[in-house]
Amino acid sequence: MLTKAGDLGDKKLLEHVQNLTPKLKQITIFASDLCNYRCSFCHIWGETGWALKEPQRVIKEQLDIDVIKKFMDQVLEANPKIGVIITGGEPMLYKSFTELVEYLRSKKVTIYLLTNGSLIKNKIDLILNNVVALNISIDGPEEYHDSIRGKGSFQQICENIELLIKEKKKRKRMFPFININMTLSKYNYQSAKPFLSSLRDRFSNEKIILHDTMNPWVKPRDLSVNFWPLLFTTREKGKQYAIEMKELLDCDVSPAWEGFVEEPIGIDTIRLKNDLEEIWETEGVDSSNFVDVEEYFNNIENVFGRSKCLAPWHELIIRRTGDVYPCVDFPDYKLGNIHESSFEEIWTGDKVTKFREVLKTQNLNVCNRCTRLFADKESY
Ligand SMILES: C[S@@+](CC[C@H](N)C(=O)[O-])C[C@H]1O[C@@H](n2cnc3c(N)ncnc32)[C@H](O)[C@@H]1O
Ligand code: SF4
Repeated sequence: MLTKAGDLGDKKLLEHVQNLTPKLKQITIFASDLCNYRCSFCHIWGETGWALKEPQRVIKEQLDIDVIKKFMDQVLEANPKIGVIITGGEPMLYKSFTELVEYLRSKKVTIYLLTNGSLIKNKIDLILNNVVALNISIDGPEEYHDSIRGKGSFQQICENIELLIKEKKKRKRMFPFININMTLSKYNYQSAKPFLSSLRDRFSNEKIILHDTMNPWVKPRDLSVNFWPLLFTTREKGKQYAIEMKELLDCDVSPAWEGFVEEPIGIDTIRLKNDLEEIWETEGVDSSNFVDVEEYFNNIENVFGRSKCLAPWHELIIRRTGDVYPCVDFPDYKLGNIHESSFEEIWTGDKVTKFREVLKTQNLNVCNRCTRLFADKESY
């Protein structure tokens, strides 16, 4: 669950960002955008997502593994202790997925893998040997999940998870931590309450806990479950974003923001708030620092004290084209391309410097519900 900024919010964060020096801590790689699912709410492949508007020939492009390796060698020489998030699309559809994972781990990179879980079965060894945290999307009890992600997908993913846990136990491995992520949207919010018990029925031999954002690693578990409210924007804010990007950064934006437009939000927010509060109480999770879900969905101007985004000082995002961006969800302001420029040129170049300068004083219109805005100062 997203948290409020607490003491680190508002004025302190504004001051903090003025004195920041760039230090790379995390890279997110979208080596391919291909996906075998069409989840209704997805900002990439869902009903309003951008991928269905692009020529499929282009979407099928995948990043060359040698180009990634060359770039990552430069990154790691300057920043040996970074984490890499491998995502997509469905990352396991990337043609060089195995090579990418093994290469990164051979360089001692901490690997986080975000997956829909459908293709785990043939990659169990690879995952157990290399991945630190595995995030698998399940969007509610079977009927809800299948209506969003496709018939039969709930059982398929659960079977894969079962296999993985069995092997993990057999080999007495601590890693990867396996987390199930449920994205709360109009399609499934009614099912938040029965979700944990439906998983406990399905995985009757496993210990399942609710992910505790404030104490994430304390409780022993086989699986943790996290509720993640939909990231969204309004058409009005999207349009304003396009104008400000042109004015401030001379940037013509892509249609990516349209994939996040959710109007109306379509959620009974009072019911969802009550349901979540009941779950947190029953599961003994301290929710005092969590965002108010009703406010989150109804007042997009409230950023819960998270007045600044720190991502451009600590992160880079590599897309399937080799283009590099400072934002994970909005591939708009391009910093460079790994086919043409070195890490140093991208990380210290004029474009990123300009972006950081703009972000010191401005928040962009689409940022209000972004994951990175909700990332803790300490997590960077
Ligand atoms: C884009 S997917 C990529 C990895 C993989 N295909 C999967 O489904 O987990 C990463 C996560 O983003 C979530 N997601 C997609 N659209 C979202 C949105 N608009 N707001 C919040 N999460 C979203 C998905 O549910 C998934 O948990
Ligand atoms: S599996 Fe992931 S990338 Fe594919 S459509 Fe669903 S949320 Fe989007």
